[in-house]
Amino acid sequence: MLGEKVTISVIKADIGSLAGHHVTHPDTLAAAAKVLSEAKRKGILIDFYVTHAGDDLELIMTHRRGVDDPEIHGTAWNAFKEATKVAKELGLYASGQDLLSEAFSGNVRGMGPGVAEMEIEERPSEPIVVFMADKTEPGAFNLPLFKIFADPFNTAGLIIDPRMHEGFKFQVLDVYEGKSVTLSCPEEMYDLLALIGTTGRYVIKRVFRKSDELQAAVVSTERLNLIAGKYVGKDDPVAILRAQHGLPALGEILEAFAFPHMVAGWMRGSHYGPLMPVPEKYSKCTRFDGPPRIVGLGFQVKNGRLVGPADLFDDVAFDETRRLAQIVAEYIRRHGPFMPHRLGPEEMEYTTLPQVLEKLRDRFVEVKVATKAIIRRSEMLSGEERVD
Ligand code: 13P
Ligand code: 13P
Ligand code: MG
Ligand code: MG
Repeated sequence: MLGEKVTISVIKADIGSLAGHHVTHPDTLAAAAKVLSEAKRKGILIDFYVTHAGDDLELIMTHRRGVDDPEIHGTAWNAFKEATKVAKELGLYASGQDLLSEAFSGNVRGMGPGVAEMEIEERPSEPIVVFMADKTEPGAFNLPLFKIFADPFNTAGLIIDPRMHEGFKFQVLDVYEGKSVTLSCPEEMYDLLALIGTTGRYVIKRVFRKSDELQAAVVSTERLNLIAGKYVGKDDPVAILRAQHGLPALGEILEAFAFPHMVAGWMRGSHYGPLMPVPEKYSKCTRFDGPPRIVGLGFQVKNGRLVGPADLFDDVAFDETRRLAQIVAEYIRRHGPFMPHRLGPEEMEYTTLPQVLEKLRDRFVEVKVATKAIIRRSEMLSGEERVD
């Protein structure tokens, strides 16, 4: 028996932080919570939880108004505005960083904040997990989501639970072209991997259970640099996943984060580094503004109420993952400004590096090369004509 519809909205923004891009200030969280309390009192929200992932302010909200609702987005926008006022008073670093526009026009998408929203029919027991990352980008979720919903070496339920044995469908966004494609696993697994391995461009947006189209996951896919056209900060994505009863168990969801895979972000949003799962108390970036971190909070949703949270990575079972992340961080850091630690040229386009390179432009002189350069581009990946 399914219950009433409820929408879970996680909307986040970096509105300024303490001591550089390190951690939010408690007064900004309090200012945002005040706005959400008022919305709850008015009956706009059923419930909310305000927290942070490093320097990102995270609003976790439940309501009955569906996704993309102007009232909910407006409430989040006001919360960010009020928090920004406090950030400015305190002189916090990069106050208002992610609020790219002055005027709100009904929806925060494209205005800077990251948004993950899912309308669900509440099950009698509805466990959900909210993941929040700092110093990385939405494509950071590609690998763990693939493992959770398509890899039987991660998720035993894909083999042994008849309710998910048919597999899952993945909606993948091309964030450069603004297009999406839906691929079905296991049969289109290789096609899916061919896309989502390019994490800066092809990003998993939603996951659905194939047998009944039930939505199991959603990711915030806003890419700040693509919206602003320049580097303003990393996108620091969030995701909402549902667990159990014919969906991956909580432990199958968390298992995907036991491997600290390499993600883009870290210092100046320009470096690859390992994604380290941490409890809320370690949700703050230090070494080289990192390493990139992820926090996972577990809730039960009951009649729209958020019961919890459980701080899911606050466990010794993830100590070795964190240790491996530190070793990988140490290893890759020694590359300094060299690739593959530093991101490749396409991603660096949105940083301040082109300004540095511009200075050298006139100093290049022609040299005779023995071979003519052949440019080969995959039409699929670049969207451009192939030149042979
Ligand atoms: P579900 O019936 O909720 O899928 O529980 C199975 C389980 O949790 C095994 O770990
Ligand atoms: P944020 O994207 O978390 O604000 O970090 C920006 C940065 O430049 C870190 O070095
Ligand atoms: Mg910041
Ligand atoms: Mg951040």
